[in-house]
Amino acid sequence: KGIRVSDSAYTNTAAVTSSITFIDGGRGILRYRGYPIEQLARKSHFLESAYLLIYGELPTAQRYDAWSNEVLHHTYLHHDVEHVMSSFRYDSHPMAMLISGFAALGAFAPEANPSLQGQNLYSNAAKGNVEALAQMDKQIMRLIGKAPTLAAATYRNRQGRPFNRPPTGLSYSGTFLYCLDQLSEHQYKPNAVLERALDILFLLHADHEMNCSTATMVHVGSSLVDPYSAVAASCAALYGPLHGGASEAVVRQLIDINGPENVPKFIEQVKRKERNLAGFGHRVYRTTDPRSTIIREVAEQVFSVTGRSKLLDTALALRDAAEKDDYFKSRNLHANVDFFSGIIYQQMGFPLDFYPVLFAVPRVVGWLAHWRQAMLSPSQRIWRPKQIYIGASERDYVDVKQRE
Ligand code: CMC
Repeated sequence: KGIRVSDSAYTNTAAVTSSITFIDGGRGILRYRGYPIEQLARKSHFLESAYLLIYGELPTAQRYDAWSNEVLHHTYLHHDVEHVMSSFRYDSHPMAMLISGFAALGAFAPEANPSLQGQNLYSNAAKGNVEALAQMDKQIMRLIGKAPTLAAATYRNRQGRPFNRPPTGLSYSGTFLYCLDQLSEHQYKPNAVLERALDILFLLHADHEMNCSTATMVHVGSSLVDPYSAVAASCAALYGPLHGGASEAVVRQLIDINGPENVPKFIEQVKRKERNLAGFGHRVYRTTDPRSTIIREVAEQVFSVTGRSKLLDTALALRDAAEKDDYFKSRNLHANVDFFSGIIYQQMGFPLDFYPVLFAVPRVVGWLAHWRQAMLSPSQRIWRPKQIYIGASERDYVDVKQRE
């Protein structure tokens, strides 16, 4: 009793050096490779920003064409992977299916098998071996390409409907919407406003430096396992309600509050610590999360297509009440990225338990950017944190008959 473990939740431990994403939580700044998130959200799009995150520079037009063609080409799922995805029960949680889907992909990419390639592949890539680097990048493009089709397969499986094959000629988010579509594959055209809104949401969720799931990717990857298995592990970390499950929790909470008139009572319960206010607070941001400001603008565009709802009015009343209240002000608790994204997903008609999947699809990019950075680092070693032992000191084994 009284002994403190050094840094149990890693609040003050920098496990890596990184040149991918910069966050200043005190001032509400987020930059991908030096570019302010606000500029990227306005001027770039998801696949271009994905290239930036992974390779460090914005692509030339020629490089972008090659990159997007390759990623979109990889959206196809092998027939046997489709078979795996259709083997789950109709009521399986989509994240459980997605985690399994990523792990299954490893079985279909024998060249990534660590027992065959592992150490040599990555250490050769780190030494600049062109073939090894190309092999690594192929797995990256495969994973980014297959994320939306795997995700759509989890959705279609829930509906008991056959999977849509990815189309040609659509954007990344358009391809995803097409694969999700419940109508005929041949009639569906994504709504341009919703397609762009989803693309911006993807861009905003693509990376957020050493969060729980990204740390998982680098940790698991440090054993030199294949990236499919490491992505499956990261996806499992994202499944948790304090991480990727938060947008779902926000909407469940809003349904539970059931109207702006009940907000004051709910706020009092939070202040008495009987409940947590989902979508508020952040380990890093002690001011407004810059993504939540952009998401509010995206929300207005989406609502102009889908209309407004009681849920949205409840959300606005909740945000206003919380931001004025001393409990939240004194603890620097502000709306985070999940507060409005959940309402957008709800207005777009996504099922509640599909929201973490909508977070996982773009975050695959961040996981892979950090994985690639770590694998190519000359200081790459297996992660092995220390512990402080606080258990019993040495004692002798007691036979079962003599135990009390
Ligand atoms: N509602 C009510 N009180 C809160 C909340 C909240 N959402 N978040 C923090 N607090 C309180 C906490 O109880 C503590 O109070 P006290 O000082 O009286 O003990 C104080 O604020 C400080 O909290 P903290 O220890 O700095 O919080 P943390 O860094 O350990 O946790 C968090 C961060 C995001 C897990 C937490 O704020 C939370 O549970 N938020 C709700 C879930 C959520 O929205 N998660 C998504 C985060 S953003 C996306 C992502 O990264 O995945």
